[in-house]
Amino acid sequence: MKTIKAFAPATIANFNVGYDVLGVALSHIGDEVELAFNGKQENRIVAMINGEHLPVEADKNCCSVVVRKMQEHLGVFSGVDIRITKGFASGSGLGSSSASSAAAAFAYNELTGRPFTRKELVAFAAEGERVACGSAHVDNVAPSVLGGIVLAKGKETNDLIELPIIENLYAVTLFPDIKINTSDSRKILKDHIPLKTASKQVGLMGAFVSSLYDKDLQRFSSSLQDLMIEPMRSLLIPEFYEMKTAAMAHHALAFGISGSGPSVFAVAEGEKKAQGILTVLREVYRPAAIKIQTHVHALGKKNGAKIINRDYALH
Ligand code: HSE
Repeated sequence: MKTIKAFAPATIANFNVGYDVLGVALSHIGDEVELAFNGKQENRIVAMINGEHLPVEADKNCCSVVVRKMQEHLGVFSGVDIRITKGFASGSGLGSSSASSAAAAFAYNELTGRPFTRKELVAFAAEGERVACGSAHVDNVAPSVLGGIVLAKGKETNDLIELPIIENLYAVTLFPDIKINTSDSRKILKDHIPLKTASKQVGLMGAFVSSLYDKDLQRFSSSLQDLMIEPMRSLLIPEFYEMKTAAMAHHALAFGISGSGPSVFAVAEGEKKAQGILTVLREVYRPAAIKIQTHVHALGKKNGAKIINRDYALH
């Protein structure tokens, strides 16, 4: 029976300027999903490593749901046994369910001879997001599948825009180990935004996108501001503004909430500045008696889902 294993990375969704439409792939952490044909018509979760609290029923687990959706689309139900290894905490705001969903979609596509393009896999991976957190937004799954920075102007394959990246950028992520689940973090958001705020945010988004094409770090930094969501969600994150002030005082180009939180991120030019920001963020949290997990990631293209092991030859 053919076996294959894929990796897909963690992601920062929203990236301050693009609530539900923008996401960035991270290089350092992600999930692994191994698939093996099982000779049946059903899919089974046979191992869940580092995610003991996550569902393993085929209709509730994001990986088996993604595989099922692909089988339904193909009209061929070649069942698989699924082994999931979680590489970072779920509920962190770093796209945990998306990384598993993206890896599952990528692995099943390879195992079945690549019937779908990489971009087409995003819609299937989004179905994993729907079952995990109640909404099929693609701002985590799109960069997890495709890598780099992705703007999703809608949910169709043609709506996925892979943006350029400025060289030598690093992201620092800090996960304070407190529980905020995505659906709760979405419920606290107000439905209406004042027109003036929306207008300013649209301007910031446009300026941000243009900064990537023009490779203009100053514009990149001044445009990466979240006027809509941060004022509401920052209340859920201990020491948020202390961290933001400290990071911005130590050469951060931007600071914000990763996805629905509680993780936060900073962006820096060069690894040395990123390490410096990491040090000051840890200092802010030292008195807080909350466990934290931190990482430094190189940002770049081509760091999306990939095959890390296969037990059969490609022809
Ligand atoms: N865009 C989503 C949110 C990302 O902010 O709720 C979390 O999955």
